[in-house]
Amino acid sequence: MTKMKVLEIPHPILREKAKPVEKVDARIVGLLDDMLETMYASNGVGLAANQVGLLERIVVIDCAREGEEPDPLQMVNPKIIAHSEEILCRNEGCLSVPREYADVDRFAVVTVEYLDKNGEKKTRTADGLLGMAIQHELDHLDGILFIDYLSKLKRDKLLHHLEKRRKKEAKEA
Ligand code: NI
Repeated sequence: MTKMKVLEIPHPILREKAKPVEKVDARIVGLLDDMLETMYASNGVGLAANQVGLLERIVVIDCAREGEEPDPLQMVNPKIIAHSEEILCRNEGCLSVPREYADVDRFAVVTVEYLDKNGEKKTRTADGLLGMAIQHELDHLDGILFIDYLSKLKRDKLLHHLEKRRKKEAKEA
């Protein structure tokens, strides 16, 4: 397995729409495994293909807490087919918007349909952190980032903070 480079804003690929995978073949299975390894190595709970420079509808997620057994979810062509009326607000972050966090409204419960590593159709209903992660990662495949849901004022503040920290780190390096 290979650790991939995680792209950060403002990389343009993060703003593009990924294309459906036609066949879950050995190459796709390899990508699913490389992405999972990359996500674990980056201490993330989710990673979408756009974030590693690929415009294919592939997502990996693992919301197991520290000390718990790993619970990897590797999804090809995922699609939300049902969601609750109820909305929940959670604090979100993203490996492509490093070390910045903000509250985002999401559906409390979602049902996602996807193809697994064997190309078999599966569905999963999720709430809590997993439900949020599914919505966040699927957004990536459409070029959407969590900061898009913030008011302009909050987003500008977050981006300004990120830029300031990047400059500081570049100076120290
Ligand atoms: Ni993200």
